[in-house]
Amino acid sequence: MTFNPLRERGIPLDRQLRNWRELNVTPIDPDHADPYTRCRIIAMNGIEVEAILFSHQFARHCPDPLVKQQLAQVRYIEAQQQKVVNWLLPGLASVLETTIAYEQVAVDLTAWVARMEPDPYLKQAYQFGVLEDFDHLYRYANLYEMIEHRKAEKIVDNLTEVTPGRPTYLHHRNPIDNLREPYDKTAAAPISKLHALTIMAAEQQTMNFYMNVGPTYMEPIARQLYQEIGLIEEEHVTHYESLVDPGETWWEMLLNHEYNECYMYHSFMETESDPKVKAIWELHLNMELEHLRIAAELFKRHDGRDPQEVVAPQLPAPVTFEPNKAYLRELLATQIDFTTIGTGYVQDMHERFEQMQEAIHGGDASQAPSEQVIVENRNKAGREYRHETDGPHPVHSLRADR
Ligand SMILES: [Fe+2]
Ligand SMILES: [Fe+2]
Ligand SMILES: [Fe+2]
Ligand SMILES: [Fe+2]
Repeated sequence: MTFNPLRERGIPLDRQLRNWRELNVTPIDPDHADPYTRCRIIAMNGIEVEAILFSHQFARHCPDPLVKQQLAQVRYIEAQQQKVVNWLLPGLASVLETTIAYEQVAVDLTAWVARMEPDPYLKQAYQFGVLEDFDHLYRYANLYEMIEHRKAEKIVDNLTEVTPGRPTYLHHRNPIDNLREPYDKTAAAPISKLHALTIMAAEQQTMNFYMNVGPTYMEPIARQLYQEIGLIEEEHVTHYESLVDPGETWWEMLLNHEYNECYMYHSFMETESDPKVKAIWELHLNMELEHLRIAAELFKRHDGRDPQEVVAPQLPAPVTFEPNKAYLRELLATQIDFTTIGTGYVQDMHERFEQMQEAIHGGDASQAPSEQVIVENRNKAGREYRHETDGPHPVHSLRADR
């Protein structure tokens, strides 16, 4: 079934505003909801936050008052969509539970994108990043057991394994080495542009979330772990945003953003298991079709080009949350010791990396909060927390019995 969002008719903009009753959505049930429904909510919230922030940046660089008005009108609707989507999360879940769900999103969304990405250089960027968020999940899961006395498998279920990835203390690189080579907007496949926008938005939301919730904890180890991983999410935003061709015009960027929102809502509508949440994805898709139409008009008028030259003629296969255990195990076995140098990757230490490591760890990497959280939980529980559903760790030195 083909779906060309440029040909579909959505809800007219003047009928998209919702009142308080319509904005007051019922949250999902924290104990019985499909973990991947929660993942879709978190991912889509990141997409909407990016839509809002991008539109603000555009408006600040836009001298045309009529365009500014149009951006403000659409942006207000994006803000309502963000409220509806993020307010589907239940207030009952703790910040740390939501954090673990954020890392599950980073793992299974990035792994899916890595599997589907046709460009080998971009694929490598996702493969590299996913092993780091995979390790964050393991560190936070140990913090969770230690301070909330619960197990992360209650949150991630048997869908995602919890076990060491590339050790978090090794994620701290010289910022120069976090910049990638951008795709070429004239040559890149449309799906590659959508992937880059989606993962950039997800990482940006994770970065913002940790920046804000980290200091709400009383336990010193929790405060420290959020500081450390918050800084790595800054690296991840730098890594993924630099994949996007900076030569795209503002009109082209707007078009890509709205197209990606259509793609993501359509994907989630097709794959959602919760009928009430599915209805929201469908409603929002119908709003986004109109945002896309407006963006396409602006693009035609100001860039003088046909939108079909830039975006895909039909939506690619839906972005799907599903287990990626075998794929992740393969990456663990082959890429765990990678780091970056310039815009490439190496398996060896290099001077700039060693200097950064020395400086941030104050000469002793065992003092990193991400190492300390494991030590402290081992001392308390007699072992660290893992959730290995598919056998022992693929890297021998990282097995639990070692
Ligand atoms: Fe939106
Ligand atoms: Fe992460
Ligand atoms: Fe990340
Ligand atoms: Fe939109």
